[in-house]
Amino acid sequence: MDIGTVTLNNGVEMPLAGLGTWDLRGRECTETVSTAIGMGYRLIDTAQMYENEREVGEGIRKSGILRDRIFLTTKIYRKSNSREKAREAIDASLEALQVSYVDLLLLHEPYPEGPEMYAALEDALREGKARAIGISNYSEEWYRGFMAQCGIIPAVNQLETHVFFQKWEFQEEMREKGTTMQAWAPLAQGIGNIAGNEVLTEIGKSHNRTAAQTALRFLVQRGISVIPKSRHARRLRENLDILDFELSEEEMRLIRTLDRNKTLFPWTEEF
Ligand SMILES: NC(=O)c1ccc[n+]([C@@H]2O[C@H](COP(=O)([O-])OP(=O)(O)OC[C@H]3O[C@@H](n4cnc5c(N)ncnc54)[C@H](OP(=O)(O)O)[C@@H]3O)[C@@H](O)[C@H]2O)c1
Repeated sequence: MDIGTVTLNNGVEMPLAGLGTWDLRGRECTETVSTAIGMGYRLIDTAQMYENEREVGEGIRKSGILRDRIFLTTKIYRKSNSREKAREAIDASLEALQVSYVDLLLLHEPYPEGPEMYAALEDALREGKARAIGISNYSEEWYRGFMAQCGIIPAVNQLETHVFFQKWEFQEEMREKGTTMQAWAPLAQGIGNIAGNEVLTEIGKSHNRTAAQTALRFLVQRGISVIPKSRHARRLRENLDILDFELSEEEMRLIRTLDRNKTLFPWTEEF
């Protein structure tokens, strides 16, 4: 299956559709990752904070698909708040995942010690422990400040992005500087009932797709990689099946009208 990719600023290809693993734990996590890969998923997103790296690694091995066919993302977070601690955390992630490198290594949130921690991500890139590095939850203000300090331009900024919070201008600003946007909560975590939204349902019908598929397609068509999470096989299949239909300009325009330009997750404004 052709899953479609976006090219990062260092030439690495990142799949446009992947699996998020937040709140998947234990055996369920291993099984879900393995099942998803069996269906054709090639991007798996985890983080130290999710406490499931071991199970994600097991799921990848259980799938029987070769490691180098999978695009694996993990994230280092606030407890590793120095270059040295972040270096140790990166090694701990590789150990938990049982891999020699990850494809994308992110700083999970903006922290005052972010630039110091990011230096460890730059080390990891140079040492072959990551194929690309980036940031997550960096708002416009944080992003601009960070860009003035970092050595290597973040390849990715993973952000809350969905039909209710579309971030067109920020995407363009980052694109000009070499940073690709990736959407977390591309289905808004179920808030606002995207799956039952009338506009999305109507548009979806003309393509024989669901409202959720239409919401994901809207992002992918903008070149935004999406990492929806589901623990159900039917939805896993549904969320991957978004790459072989095209929304018209008029449909894209209609979906733009759903933008509330406001976060659904107030914790993202607390940094
Ligand atoms: N960088 C960060 O700070 C950050 C923050 C949050 C998330 N993330 C990453 O992004 C991933 C995705 O975000 P998320 O898990 O928060 O939210 P999401 O993917 O937008 O939504 C997940 C929710 O939607 C449901 N769902 C999935 N597919 C569906 C479908 N086709 N129709 C209807 N409902 C559906 C899931 O339920 P079921 O499981 O019951 O199907 C779950 O309740 C996370 O798993 C994580 O990897 C990163």
